[in-house]
Amino acid sequence: MSNQPIPLSHFAPTHSSEVGKLVNETQQFIAHLSEKGGPDPSDYLMLNTLLQNFSEEKTQSMVSEAQLQKLREAFGDALSPETIQGWAYQQPLGYAGDFKIIEKIYNYERSPVHKLAKWDDFFHSQKAPKAVRNRLSLFLDQLWKTKMAHPSGTQILNVASGPGRDMYEALKVLGASDLRIDCVEQDSHAIDFAKTLCQEFHQNINFIHKNIFRFFTDTTYHLIWSAGLFDYFNDNLFKRTIRKLAKSLKPNGRMVIGNFSPDNPDRGYMELCNWKLIHRSKEHLAQLARECGFEDHQIQVEQEPEGINLFLVITN
Ligand SMILES: C[S@@+](CC[C@H](N)C(=O)[O-])C[C@H]1O[C@@H](n2cnc3c(N)ncnc32)[C@H](O)[C@@H]1O
Repeated sequence: MSNQPIPLSHFAPTHSSEVGKLVNETQQFIAHLSEKGGPDPSDYLMLNTLLQNFSEEKTQSMVSEAQLQKLREAFGDALSPETIQGWAYQQPLGYAGDFKIIEKIYNYERSPVHKLAKWDDFFHSQKAPKAVRNRLSLFLDQLWKTKMAHPSGTQILNVASGPGRDMYEALKVLGASDLRIDCVEQDSHAIDFAKTLCQEFHQNINFIHKNIFRFFTDTTYHLIWSAGLFDYFNDNLFKRTIRKLAKSLKPNGRMVIGNFSPDNPDRGYMELCNWKLIHRSKEHLAQLARECGFEDHQIQVEQEPEGINLFLVITN
């Protein structure tokens, strides 16, 4: 049987009583899965179809906090930090999208608790974590292009560097060359982790423990990269940060900013797990860049193969 979800139009509720039915049906199915030790691949079609209803803006606006709570309770232990979805929900480091969850996604981590591991298999089968993993090759591609264009003294700024997995994988391919990456990261635990992971490339990477809003530099960069950060910013903060970073671009330098697309089918599931992002379309991202003073010929929007993570590319 295919795991493609049944089109939403079959289900999408239009009245609050239909939403009530959907919540009940979803709650019962999740509780059933939790009782039997997590979803098997044969359950994914039904679970995806039910959860994807909650990605619909119209449905979301009709679901109450009490109904969301009811759905969360149905997960039981599957919403403890022993699972990735539970890590997202509980936020043990105190904020959403911490370096550990990203590292769990990159590494296809599976809960050591036997009865919960199937929930992680389900999580990893979703498009959103696939899109996160696709960042690795996109980052490598950007680094490669930048290094080819500026073979000596390549300067890169990595904003919100997290676990550093993208740098580690890219530098393994590119080799320790004449390339320098400055990383701005607010979480000292993330920096400690990334320093250990990227130990063999310590001459290439410089970590700066700072909130990006308090980071000022005279250095200019060939490439400024940021993934997994701007989706948490409202439009004003997004633009303020772009304008600020743009001052640190070299002539012809490139800024690449990741943001989840509204086409993310896992939005409902993620929000159920308290992982709230601001999803932006290609048009929306381009418009924000225009409002920062960039012209159309300087703006492009790229995407990874899933089409879920978009990348606003601004050329100076
Ligand atoms: C979702 S992770 C992304 C990590 C990495 N860019 C990646 O794609 O693998 C987000 C990271 O942003 C960091 N972060 C969040 N807000 C920040 C801020 N205002 N300044 C600097 N770092 C920030 C967090 O500590 C976390 O490590």
